[in-house]
Amino acid sequence: MDSADVLNIFPELFEVNLNEDLQAEGLFLKIKKIINFDEGYIYFLNPNSAQLKYAFNKQDDLEIEQVVPFSASSKKVLFSEKNLILKKNDKLCKEFNLTNSNSYILTKIHIKSTILGFLILGKKEFSYYSEKHLSILKPCASIVSYLIKDMELSNVFKMQLKALKDGLIEKNEAYKTIKEQNEKILEADKVKNEFLANVSHELRTPLNSILGFSEILATGLYGAVNDKQKEYISDIRTSGIHLLSMINEILDLSKIEAKAVKLVRSQFNIDRAVTEALNILEPLYDKKHITVNKIIEKDFEVFADYQKIQQILYNLINNAIKFTPENGQIDVTCQKNKKNFVMTVHDNGIGIDKKYHGKIFAKFVQLDSAYTKKESSTGLGLTITKELTELHGGKISIISEVNNGSTFIVEIPNVSPLKK
Ligand SMILES: Nc1ncnc2c1ncn2[C@@H]1O[C@H](COP(=O)(O)OP(=O)(O)O)[C@@H](O)[C@H]1O
Ligand SMILES: [Mg+2]
Repeated sequence: MDSADVLNIFPELFEVNLNEDLQAEGLFLKIKKIINFDEGYIYFLNPNSAQLKYAFNKQDDLEIEQVVPFSASSKKVLFSEKNLILKKNDKLCKEFNLTNSNSYILTKIHIKSTILGFLILGKKEFSYYSEKHLSILKPCASIVSYLIKDMELSNVFKMQLKALKDGLIEKNEAYKTIKEQNEKILEADKVKNEFLANVSHELRTPLNSILGFSEILATGLYGAVNDKQKEYISDIRTSGIHLLSMINEILDLSKIEAKAVKLVRSQFNIDRAVTEALNILEPLYDKKHITVNKIIEKDFEVFADYQKIQQILYNLINNAIKFTPENGQIDVTCQKNKKNFVMTVHDNGIGIDKKYHGKIFAKFVQLDSAYTKKESSTGLGLTITKELTELHGGKISIISEVNNGSTFIVEIPNVSPLKK
């Protein structure tokens, strides 16, 4: 498809308001690590001329409601140039109604040869962006495209595909090309998921040796270990555990996304699942001198998927360790109520602002804190935890305030083994 086609079939840009959606904010945080800006926008090409709008900017109060009408000459510039440096008074800025900043940088969002939209960053300082920034933006544009695609664009794809299915634009040759390309991308996504599942699996095997053998070394069974050696062995173990959790998270999510996760219920003592999760995590909480209390009714049997319940506990306790300062305290409680069994992980760590409570469960979301930078983090743990809880017909909730600790509560229907 050449750019002439694009000009014909995309009469306007549309923006979707992502303010409510921290996934996009997470994305902008990622971009910010690469290139600085005061405001950021994503404009998507309107796939079916519906008067839709898709925009995001860092200033929550700025609302843009209408589709951006852009002139033919601007279209030419937008589609022919890869990246642009703009000033406030440039025609393109006026058409986009960009007036808050004085210097702008623009890049195309595209996957392979399909142009999906534009990313615009603005900075208050005059002439802030230069050739130097362009050279940074170029390589990062493809990463950005990929991230955007992963987080939000699936919605746009769905719309594009729906428009195609509805036959709105069936006859348009250029759209056929887009349709084919989108299908290729979806196919590639499937391949990516399978690849991740395979690779993660292959990575776990050698890691288990690293963890196992470093543990054996630490015991001193094969010769005395001095303090320095002990310290290094402990570092190998904690790094190994971090890596293992990240690999597990990627593997678990790719399985969930591929809808390949099924429950295998059995009757087990919940204490066993908690103990096993704690055994794996012990080096991490020991290192931070965190006390972990287990409060579980005696002989507490549940009927659920053992491995998945353990994974839920592991993820929540791992977070509690991660986001609690040294010498903190974590309580893991398991109780029964009428219909459910309830697992609670409470910490006295940094806490979470109420406005993020609904958002931290989305894919890749990590709140900006010294901890997410310092500790290994994928932003997938809670997504998986929620999926696994819901798979059991349960629900997860949170009680937390900034600087006042967090409590994650998982309630799961206590299915009777007889009723399975
Ligand atoms: N116990 C907790 N205390 C404070 N913040 C938390 C806690 N658990 C999760 N969070 C916040 O929610 C985000 C998402 O959690 P998660 O999906 O497990 O990702 P990750 O642990 O890889 O950062 C974390 O990055 C953190 O900002
Ligand atoms: Mg986590």
